Amino acid sequence: MNPKTHIPIFFIALILTLNSINGTFTPQDNFLLNCGGNSALKLEDGRIFQPDKNPGSSSFFLLTPASHNVVYSDTKPLDLYGSARVFTQATDYSFKIQQKGRHFLRLHFYPVSSPIYNLKDATFTVGANGFTFLYDFSYSKLGLDQSVVLKEYIVDLGLDSKPLVVNLVPSSGSIAFVNGIEVISLPDRVFPATGSSISENEPVEISGNIAFETLHRINMGGPYVSSKNDGLWRDWKPDGKFLINSASAIAISTDPDSIKYSSRVSVDTAPNLVYATAQEMADANVGNQRFNISWVFDVDSGFRYLIRLHFCDILSHNVGNLLFNVYINNQSALSSFDISHKANGLSTACFVDFIVEVQIEKILIQIGPPQITSSLPNAILNGLEILKFSNSKGSLDRSQGENPIGVKVKKDKNKNNLLAIVIVSFLGGAILLAILIAAFVLYFRHRKKTRDESGGSTWLPSPMAVHTHTGNSETKISLGSFASSGPSLSFSRLLAFMEIKEATKNFDESLVLGVGGFGKVYKGVLENGLVVAVKRGNPGSQQGLIEFRTEIEMLSKLRHRHLVSLIGFCHEPNEMVLVYDFMAGGPLRRHLYGSNLPCLSWKQRLEICIGAAKGLHYLHTGAEETIIHRDVKTTNILLDENLTAKVSDFGLSKLGPTVDQTHVSTAVKGSFGYLDPEYFRRQQLTEKSDVYSFGVVLLEVLCARPAINPSLPREQINIVEWAMSWQKKGQLERAIDPHLVGTVSLNSLRKFGEAAEKCLADYGAERPTMGDVLWNLEYALQLQESFMKNVGDESSMNEIKDIPDWIQEIGDSNHDSFSVVSSGTDVPTSRVFSQLMDPRGR
Ligand SMILES: *[C@@H]1O[C@H](CO)[C@@H](O)[C@H](O)[C@H]1NC(C)=O
Ligand SMILES: *[C@@H]1O[C@H](CO)[C@@H](O)[C@H](O)[C@H]1NC(C)=O
Repeated sequence: MNPKTHIPIFFIALILTLNSINGTFTPQDNFLLNCGGNSALKLEDGRIFQPDKNPGSSSFFLLTPASHNVVYSDTKPLDLYGSARVFTQATDYSFKIQQKGRHFLRLHFYPVSSPIYNLKDATFTVGANGFTFLYDFSYSKLGLDQSVVLKEYIVDLGLDSKPLVVNLVPSSGSIAFVNGIEVISLPDRVFPATGSSISENEPVEISGNIAFETLHRINMGGPYVSSKNDGLWRDWKPDGKFLINSASAIAISTDPDSIKYSSRVSVDTAPNLVYATAQEMADANVGNQRFNISWVFDVDSGFRYLIRLHFCDILSHNVGNLLFNVYINNQSALSSFDISHKANGLSTACFVDFIVEVQIEKILIQIGPPQITSSLPNAILNGLEILKFSNSKGSLDRSQGENPIGVKVKKDKNKNNLLAIVIVSFLGGAILLAILIAAFVLYFRHRKKTRDESGGSTWLPSPMAVHTHTGNSETKISLGSFASSGPSLSFSRLLAFMEIKEATKNFDESLVLGVGGFGKVYKGVLENGLVVAVKRGNPGSQQGLIEFRTEIEMLSKLRHRHLVSLIGFCHEPNEMVLVYDFMAGGPLRRHLYGSNLPCLSWKQRLEICIGAAKGLHYLHTGAEETIIHRDVKTTNILLDENLTAKVSDFGLSKLGPTVDQTHVSTAVKGSFGYLDPEYFRRQQLTEKSDVYSFGVVLLEVLCARPAINPSLPREQINIVEWAMSWQKKGQLERAIDPHLVGTVSLNSLRKFGEAAEKCLADYGAERPTMGDVLWNLEYALQLQESFMKNVGDESSMNEIKDIPDWIQEIGDSNHDSFSVVSSGTDVPTSRVFSQLMDPRGR
């Protein structure tokens, strides 16, 4: 089980429980039968199912022959599945239809236990208007245990609205039964009627002589959406169990109210709850990212399927940035697909239909980045429907399957015996021409875009990628010059000690940026003008050459927008030097307190936290092995000149010779306020220790004060205790940085507070993954952004207005020296720390 697929979608879950969504469409035919029931039954979704007994001639349906065998359940009498009508002979339900065209027919089966009838083993055939839905069906054959079977079919009743006649025919010597029937006319736009005009953007034209069965209806990256939340009373299942590798995807979501529909797509196509969530590629910000997210669905072989892919770009900030490929059963279905172009905007719903014919019992859906992208490689999918076509015998039952006929099939090029027929193959030549033209247009558009964007890109997903420093000519280097001095290692290069000596003016003390466990850090300028941070190992440091080398190799392979890049290294006798990108903005802490730097806005703070969370998430999950940072704190999150956050000092912790020693060294470093209490108790290091420390960072960002500030009153010394006491009272706003007052959306703050609180859970197992944290922070950012949009029209009353007067002025206490390096153990072991110091504590 991968926790990523269980990201709590709080907001959407809340909507799901609070209100039901009403579609724009009111079906003209909407017949709901509670079969065998005595009275009208109101379901949870608000719909009322009428009993199916004694239908008079004026009734909307007719039962022939009128049968009165019914069974009731003692246990669930008030439920659709509390009763069933039982048939000992072939029986028809005939519905008087008013609306022409396609209708949903939903059949509910549940074997109510009865002393007289054995419904579990009842074997029967179900059909309607010449189609066979179920042939020799029996509940027991399905191998289900106590679950309801809900079958959904789509039948076209043609232009003259003939009655819909549902037949239930017991197999010889057996009986038939049904618990509930729904007949609902479909809006045209969900399924175009025969003869609808078709263009690339429209649903496929399908002859009315086909019935469909819904096999899968999936809400990617989101929760179960029940009939209550769908205007056509459909249900949408989560995709988790269909993902081949759940670690390859991350669920994302947005405010469902922000989803826009175009004229061609409406809530009848799929509710906004479906479009508001998606799966995206995990670690999508990693360079060289080349993989697909793959889902596999069970289907019956020998049938044709309509595959509807629902897309909505809830991810990008600009149109045309998200291009990806879609494959169906290993064949390319969409190439460099651009949702925002197709949908005509961001956060706008659209869908694409494919028809495939399969000769194996699987449908494999894959999305992945194209070979070449002008932006970060990523891919998303919001929803999916797989509908089975009735075959030439008019059957939807697998036992009446057949070899494919009736469709022109492309040459079966390979042994894997599958045939994906893109719709194009049976639309006329005119459409082909239109697509060719469209392809040309797209091609040129894409080329233009590539050219436009390459200049400003700060991240090039190529193996030789380097961060180019735009906007500061002094530090600018060209990709070419860097690449040509390229080394054997993937990103970093070997530097001569002389070169480094020159760069740092022979390790001039005035250039010292800081001191870390490894040694001193100097600012330097390489020969090519690149400004760097040079970390020089303490001469006589216990770190052996081999570990040093291993470390360089590992760090060289780590490359991420939110990690400080190792750009070079030097190892010569008695000298071990690492050279990193210089981060002009310096440590995050300096931007929060204790300096005269301008105050960061809440949005900037959120973006910085999101950046750092991405970096940590990558360390935890992006590389071959999990890398635990082990010293997450505001001084180890550096900012570049654009305030992009980059995690630094990662991996160095792994240099520690033994677990014990690394543990000790952490303690000596004195980052007490950040330490995971569980790590202290059990001395077991996991990535959840980083999550805890990150929770402390979040609080520091919010409150703009050190993690531990001994100069404050007792209850305020430890930021976690202090802020969490407000959080638990639901008044976190009382702890925030006074500079933020009046500019923060209360909703955003709430989300942020929740995220921090979860990170700070006592036990690692209860803490979220960095992926989950990231999701929550991104959500908090969205809330803040929409708040900022509304600010100005006086309607937004939910920002924080009062300056909390109980926040102590943060004086110039010597907290910095306290929480950074202290070689000795001059850390006061007051009672505040005693719980941390005692491994058996709590
Ligand atoms: C797709 O290709 C893979 C690898 O070649 C193969 O194992 C799999 O069976 C194929 N899937 C389908 C649906 O054809
Ligand atoms: C994604 O899947 C398709 C079809 O199976 C395959 O051709 C392609 O190489 C895959 N892409 C990556 C990046 O693995």
